[in-house]
Amino acid sequence: MTTMTTITTSTTLTTPPLAPLLDRLFSEKDAAAPALDAAFAAVSDDEQARLMHSKTEYADLYGRLKEFGLPVSRETGTLLYMLARSCRARTIVEFGTSFGISTLHLAAALQDNGGGYLLTTEFEPSKAARARANLATAGLHELVEIREGDALQTLAADLPATIDLLLLDGAKALYPDILKLVEPRLRTGALIVADNADYCPAYLAHVRDAKNGYLSIPVGGDVELTIRL
Ligand SMILES: C[S@@+](CC[C@H](N)C(=O)[O-])C[C@H]1O[C@@H](n2cnc3c(N)ncnc32)[C@H](O)[C@@H]1O
Repeated sequence: MTTMTTITTSTTLTTPPLAPLLDRLFSEKDAAAPALDAAFAAVSDDEQARLMHSKTEYADLYGRLKEFGLPVSRETGTLLYMLARSCRARTIVEFGTSFGISTLHLAAALQDNGGGYLLTTEFEPSKAARARANLATAGLHELVEIREGDALQTLAADLPATIDLLLLDGAKALYPDILKLVEPRLRTGALIVADNADYCPAYLAHVRDAKNGYLSIPVGGDVELTIRL
């Protein structure tokens, strides 16, 4: 007896309205690159390194950069969609919404998984507003709750009972603190994607130590990919 496998070639990620929206958002990011470079050039390398590692000055840093989306790369966005699809994620938590580019990829995966809930958080109100508008344009807003405020507060209560995937993409120095808030809800096999985690050696040391209940590797240069054991 032969069995037939139906292959679905159409995904929320690769079809309208999301696909052209992502093309536009990534084009806008590319167009803003010279202004972002200029903003960074105005700050010395030492000062940039100090701010990126700071647990107290991140609000000032991101406030200065609030005109910029600072999104994940296109490849990381696609990786997020693939990971969320392959672990059949239904509940996702994200630290660092910005204009919502990563959120759109993750929400698309939830939709293609049959539905779910994505909790994301952003402390710049103008960015949260842009993310809301982008999610509405993509028709994905009903899957997403955006909590406005500092993640140290917004993720301190009312988390989903179990979490399938966590994206860390806010202030790098806070990755260990945010993980501590979410950790009790991560299911066995949950995935954690941490963007630019090299800025937080304490986070890498924690998730790369199997005694802490994780297995973790760097992927593609930008990302630390971790599984909850
Ligand atoms: C790298 S951007 C996120 C990009 C987004 N994930 C994407 O791919 O489109 C980091 C964002 O996190 C926000 N952020 C940083 N620290 C935060 C905190 N403690 N609480 C809430 N939001 C924070 C910043 O305002 C900024 O918009």
